[in-house]
Amino acid sequence: MKPHPSLARAPRFAAALGTRPASADAGPVPAEHMGGIAQALSIRYNNLVYDMKSRGEDVIVLSLGEAFFDIPLFRFDDLPMPDGYHYSHSRGVPELRRRLAAYYGERYGVPVDPADEILVTAGSKIAIHMSLMAILNPGDEAMVLEPAWVSYTEQVKLCHAVPVMVPHDAGIFRLGEFITARTRVIIVNNPNNPSGKLLTAEELAHLHELADEHGLFILSDEAYSDFVPEGRFISLGAGDPEKRHTLICNSMSKNHGMSGWRLGYVIGRPTVIDEVLKINQHLVTCPPTILQYYLERHFAEVLEITRPQIAEVVRRRAELAAFMDARGMTYLPGDSTFYFFVSIGRAGVSSEEFCTRLLTAHGVSTVPGIGYGDSCDGFIRVSVGTENMERTRRGIVLVDELIEVLAMENGLLATTGTEVMA
Ligand SMILES: Cc1ncc(COP(=O)(O)O)c(C=O)c1O
Repeated sequence: MKPHPSLARAPRFAAALGTRPASADAGPVPAEHMGGIAQALSIRYNNLVYDMKSRGEDVIVLSLGEAFFDIPLFRFDDLPMPDGYHYSHSRGVPELRRRLAAYYGERYGVPVDPADEILVTAGSKIAIHMSLMAILNPGDEAMVLEPAWVSYTEQVKLCHAVPVMVPHDAGIFRLGEFITARTRVIIVNNPNNPSGKLLTAEELAHLHELADEHGLFILSDEAYSDFVPEGRFISLGAGDPEKRHTLICNSMSKNHGMSGWRLGYVIGRPTVIDEVLKINQHLVTCPPTILQYYLERHFAEVLEITRPQIAEVVRRRAELAAFMDARGMTYLPGDSTFYFFVSIGRAGVSSEEFCTRLLTAHGVSTVPGIGYGDSCDGFIRVSVGTENMERTRRGIVLVDELIEVLAMENGLLATTGTEVMA
């Protein structure tokens, strides 16, 4: 990465951005393949925000990967004790598995046997990673669709497999062109972080066809499944009730607004879940038992509280889409989640330069598009889940103004955008 010139004036940013001098290292070197693993760009920029805020600076935070909800703290003192102090079953507390299985069955029409088709994990990030570990041989190819959530590519590499990136303008119906004899899995994120795109019934049917035809797994990350305009989400599992090729990962982080509790799960056919179970037993054992019991006990109440708040976030997203449309701003198509993948193509700078300048000079944090794939450097991710509407609008205006200023600085003002229209 080429650091923005402002970094030279602000050395404290260098450490936060991970540009540590080589002289700071001594002793045996870490594994060679770690050199090819990048930090999560979204987390890197959010760390900068924490640093700035701790110095009392006002930052409009449009970079966070979560929506903030009001959720009361329910009772802990009536949860099963002393069980809550100890390890749980490494598939997860059985009562919670039953809750989650029923949720997928009733809400999304995916039959799930709580005994052996679901495993509760410490967040969905590790659910995805353990699933990939369970299905990828070294050198296998995993297809990753851009814009791709920042961890898929690095997780595939951590499995000693090869991520095959599909540019953002290719679309589901062209995926066949990227399949080789080594392809083992297609990773999809439905709805997508960062674009908010929801997969259609036709696109999902095509994925099932590809999986059957080429003997592939499809790993569907459904972490934002409730952040959709009413009734439009279709789980990949609904088209493959036997889960021949379907693996689904989901979590409490977004849909329940409880990211700090690190509770997620993976759904798949018993023989695949048995393999994920082994990995879980060796890496984590189980997520915190007391939190699993708490979630099981208060599952319905939490949903009752968060569901209207989720609907409000989706409504606000639509309002902000209209606000950007009116300003002539462009972004990738999508109406779900609480993100926009906004085009900065007219600015004529890299997405990292753009985001660093936006943060250091204008106090607005966003995430560079390059973190979501090479085809995405002309975009930034704008998250509208955390700030109030007034501050979010102000942040969006500052994004738009910086695009114009940079276009002028770079002599690109006359150029009309070639990017995809919303
Ligand atoms: C698309 C997507 N999948 C998975 C995750 C992981 O979430 P968690 O590990 O908190 O369940 C995130 C978090 O930002 C995400 O955006």
